[in-house]
Amino acid sequence: MASFARLIRLTVGAWAFLLVISVAGPSSAQQINPTASSVKEQQLLQELDRIQGRVSIPDQRSGVLEQPAGREWREFRNVTLRWVGGVAILGVLAALVIFYLSRGMVRLEIGRSGRTIVRFTAFERFVHWMTATCFIVLAISGLNITFGRPLLLPLIGFEAFSEWSQWAKYAHNYLSFPFTIGVVLIFLMWIGGNIPNKVDVDWIKRGGGLVGHDHPPAYRFNAGQKAIYWIVVVGGVLVAATGYELMFPFYLSGIEGMQLAQMIHSIVAVLFVAAMLAHIYIGTIGMEGAFEAMGAGTVDVNWAKEHHSLWLEEQNARTGDARSQPAATLAE
Ligand code: HEM
Repeated sequence: MASFARLIRLTVGAWAFLLVISVAGPSSAQQINPTASSVKEQQLLQELDRIQGRVSIPDQRSGVLEQPAGREWREFRNVTLRWVGGVAILGVLAALVIFYLSRGMVRLEIGRSGRTIVRFTAFERFVHWMTATCFIVLAISGLNITFGRPLLLPLIGFEAFSEWSQWAKYAHNYLSFPFTIGVVLIFLMWIGGNIPNKVDVDWIKRGGGLVGHDHPPAYRFNAGQKAIYWIVVVGGVLVAATGYELMFPFYLSGIEGMQLAQMIHSIVAVLFVAAMLAHIYIGTIGMEGAFEAMGAGTVDVNWAKEHHSLWLEEQNARTGDARSQPAATLAE
């Protein structure tokens, strides 16, 4: 009898043991099999393009743990952008140095007449310099975001870099407003003289007088200046629209839209900087007498004759012959 009871106890014990193993077995295998869970993660990524959890704070976007497009964006941000920006900016700088060393300053060939003519009003110059000042600060503070960490941080250390970057970021945010107003005013002020026409085709064919000593005719703005005008208007609108999207995150779009805005903003910005370097060159050391136009607001009549002959004719027709009037009246 005793041995029968022992047999029953053994049988029940064996069944209980088997039951425990059959329940615990599969789940413990699932916990320790890393491949099983990563396959699921991979499937999730493929099917949903992201891995998202649930969070208790109101902003549900913070529950996104993995977004493959984010890796591609980071690669663009840390590698492609730096290459495009570096090559564009240093490439234009190198081209300008070579051009200056081989061509030198474009001189006034017939010398100064001693008489001047008004080229830009005080209001036009104010708008130009306000926009230009904002642009330079925006460019330096923006380039600090792109290149500061690898280039500046090792030179000045963490504390100075974070202090400078904070101020640069404030400047980038706040100066965006006068810059945008400036771009709108530039568009309205100078659209009249910047519509492309047949004269521009001839001007381009003759190399704009930059190569050799030719002086192709031009109205108030030549084809090169028109190109700069449209770069400022189109580039300005693009950096402003995408910049405000970045400044007010997630108001207009989700994460993909923010990534696209950053890509457009940064690429347009670095190309914009490269183009403006050429503009600054020709307005300063590249051409004799050009800076006065935006500095004092007047240019020598002979300068106008060489570079904007059709504009000078228009002005003469409107105000009487510039060549026969004293400088003071013309420049008033
Ligand atoms: C209305 C005008 C503009 C606005 C609202 C604006 C706004 C912004 C914002 C919010 C950022 C992101 C900053 C961050 O990551 O913390 C940024 C980055 C940047 N901005 Fe602007 N910006 C404007 C104009 C410009 C201009 C004119 C330039 C250059 C000439 C420029 C160059 C850059 C550059 C290079 C970056 C860094 C891109 C990167 O490496 O991620 N921005 N801007």
